[in-house]
Amino acid sequence: MITVAMVMEKGGVGKTTTALELAFALARSEKRVLMVDLDPQAKLANGLGLRGQLPAQRTTLYHVVVEDVPMREAIVSSPSESAHGRIDLVPGHRSTEVIKGALEQKHEMEPTQVFPRALQKLAREESAYDVAILDCPPSLGFLTITALLAADAVIVPMLTHQQAYDSYPDTLELIKKACRSNPRLKLLGVLPTQYRRTSTEDHVISLIEQELGDKSVFHPVAISIRYTEAYTGGISIADYDAKAAEGYERLAERFLETMQTLPATA
Ligand SMILES: Nc1ncnc2c1ncn2[C@@H]1O[C@H](COP(=O)(O)OP(=O)(O)OP(=O)(O)O)[C@@H](O)[C@H]1O
Ligand SMILES: [Mg+2]
Repeated sequence: MITVAMVMEKGGVGKTTTALELAFALARSEKRVLMVDLDPQAKLANGLGLRGQLPAQRTTLYHVVVEDVPMREAIVSSPSESAHGRIDLVPGHRSTEVIKGALEQKHEMEPTQVFPRALQKLAREESAYDVAILDCPPSLGFLTITALLAADAVIVPMLTHQQAYDSYPDTLELIKKACRSNPRLKLLGVLPTQYRRTSTEDHVISLIEQELGDKSVFHPVAISIRYTEAYTGGISIADYDAKAAEGYERLAERFLETMQTLPATA
């Protein structure tokens, strides 16, 4: 199982959309995908066709990380036709927000390592998954750090506007720091989302390429209202509007190639 995290401090840049569309594209390529929603906003379930379908009393990531409940007890399957029966989810929940405090109260010595250990255990026990995709909140706090320590790869979805670019150095710094603690971690690249071909956006892309190298920026995902509509319907952009799906098709192709070269989570 290869684990990839979606990380960017700025909100609304397409982390959740990228997590969903990569999962749908991989499922179409016959990969089995586990998604883990580390964001207390808990939006992944909606995008996977599970809106209003999760019981209020359910096992959440909080129970897994704080109370040592096996991760498989928190897993639900996506009923979306775009998932082809190959996408499972550990849904998000408000309570993930308080995981850090709860682990500290338990005097856990390495709180950020608890989630990576739980994911490794699942990977060892359930050989069914080819890829795990972690969706992170718009912050560089505990939940994003723990995701980076659990991951083999990280993708940075980003609007190529000045405002998002302002958050980019701190995000990159955190990823570099995480690479020192987690030598498996590889920055796969920056994904421009909601892209319009303007000189400002192309300038931001060239700045990133200068810093990280030519292949560091994925082919951009064009701006399209269709993304919000596909999310609302709980289906993939490819099944909703194939023309708008090009950026994510290309991302999935690159990911499938690179996947072969990455050391697995377990
Ligand atoms: N290529 C696109 N074109 C237009 N709208 C898009 C595109 N990608 C995503 N969106 C829309 O932009 C909004 C923000 O996207 P998304 O929720 O994926 O960002 P996020 O980084 O996960 O946000 P947060 O930081 O709050 O978790 C959503 O309404 C989504 O449908
Ligand atoms: Mg999100």
